[in-house]
Amino acid sequence: MQIGVIGTGHVGLVTCVSLAHLGHDVCGTDSDADKIAQLQDGMSPFFEPDLEGMLQEGLSCGRLHFVSHPAEAIREADVVFISVGTPPRASGDANLVAVEAAGRTVARHATGRCLVVEKSTVPTGTAHRLRRALRRERPDLALELEVASNPEFLSEGNAIKNALEPDRILVGAESEWAHQVMRSVYAPIIASGCEIVETDIATAELAKHASNAFLALRISFVNALARLCERTGADVLAVSDVMGKDPRIGRHFLSAGLGYGGSCFPKDLIALKRISSQLGYEFPFLAEVARVNDETIEAALEKIRDALWNMEGKRIALLGLSFKPGTDDVRFAPALSLARRLLEEGAQVVGYDPMGMANARQDVPEIETASDSYDAAEGAHCVVLCTEWDEFLNLDLEKLGRLMAHPIMIDGRNVFDSDAMRAAGFAYYAAGRPPITEEDASARSQP
Ligand code: UGA
Repeated sequence: MQIGVIGTGHVGLVTCVSLAHLGHDVCGTDSDADKIAQLQDGMSPFFEPDLEGMLQEGLSCGRLHFVSHPAEAIREADVVFISVGTPPRASGDANLVAVEAAGRTVARHATGRCLVVEKSTVPTGTAHRLRRALRRERPDLALELEVASNPEFLSEGNAIKNALEPDRILVGAESEWAHQVMRSVYAPIIASGCEIVETDIATAELAKHASNAFLALRISFVNALARLCERTGADVLAVSDVMGKDPRIGRHFLSAGLGYGGSCFPKDLIALKRISSQLGYEFPFLAEVARVNDETIEAALEKIRDALWNMEGKRIALLGLSFKPGTDDVRFAPALSLARRLLEEGAQVVGYDPMGMANARQDVPEIETASDSYDAAEGAHCVVLCTEWDEFLNLDLEKLGRLMAHPIMIDGRNVFDSDAMRAAGFAYYAAGRPPITEEDASARSQP
């Protein structure tokens, strides 16, 4: 099939390379001409495992193209995916200006029957607006331009795998023709046994927002539980493990710590809350999920204050700056929210991340950057583990502690074993687990 993709960010670019890999002729376009030039040269503008290799594979076999003029991506296309950004407005509403503009562009350049597919995460009801925009732009093609919703369930760091081996393919459409077109787009994946769930458009749009909001809710639930564990002496890791053994609950997304970040959960949760209240239903606990997520940063600050007393003049090392391991993406990263708060309180902040350093420097230039974990720890009064990159799990803890002004660790992702921290002489504060205070640490090091 001939497929056009408007917007080559995380979602759009993964869509381009995976559809070319499935055998389609794909043409991606973006308003950023530099990005298009970079993609034409086979370079990905961001890191995602296997993405660059597949980009080069698609370009060299001639199935993948990038153009800066959208007409070329649209003219011959059977299907056009809209995967432009939907950033939050100050109100929390998803800003759909780029979606409307992309829709009008498709209509302007379409030459015949074409399925226009929402790939970006959009509030329920967007397809209706998009359809209207298409018809206004091209009344002559009113019956030829149909809209469908095909939300992505890509998780950064696993996006290519998620695209080629998804848990489910979700398609919302209004005609058998549109469903048939989408079955053809994903034919090889469906043939390998993946279920395609076919619904109306409003259901598909809502199911995507609901999935992200529910995952965020689980994280906030376990973080609220962590606050309770800290007050009772219980261990949230063990509580999560026990809960997770019930197959009705499961263990996924029950890891307490610094909470969720990234370009999806924070934005989608608030957008769902906004669209819900605009439709006359308050959906009360969504705001609470976001509030508990913000509280995780305050809880980490309290631990740091408890360990260091005043912040002024203290040097604090942050290990991990990206919003999760496996990506250089720092959008809404909890590490950066914590860094901003520490800087406001007068601390010196030094950070290290295996991949997110350049992006972090751009977002919070006041963070000093280090060349590795040990460099970051040198002279620090406290280390905070913010993102659970594998390389942090194998740190030489004794060496780390020796380099620091005081061996104090705040574990924002609950990755270290308390006994190992105690043996390495650390005062250790984790989320929702009993702390090892400086007094405990020194009492245990006495003969
Ligand atoms: C998320 C969803 O997982 C994808 O299914 C969805 O397609 C995507 O959003 C999207 O809408 O585009 P992503 O934002 O890449 O994917 O990241 P996740 O792996 O879901 O992690 C989100 C955040 O939650 C991270 O900051 C992570 O550290 C945090 N998290 C995750 C926890 O704090 N605890 C957990 O137990 C799990």
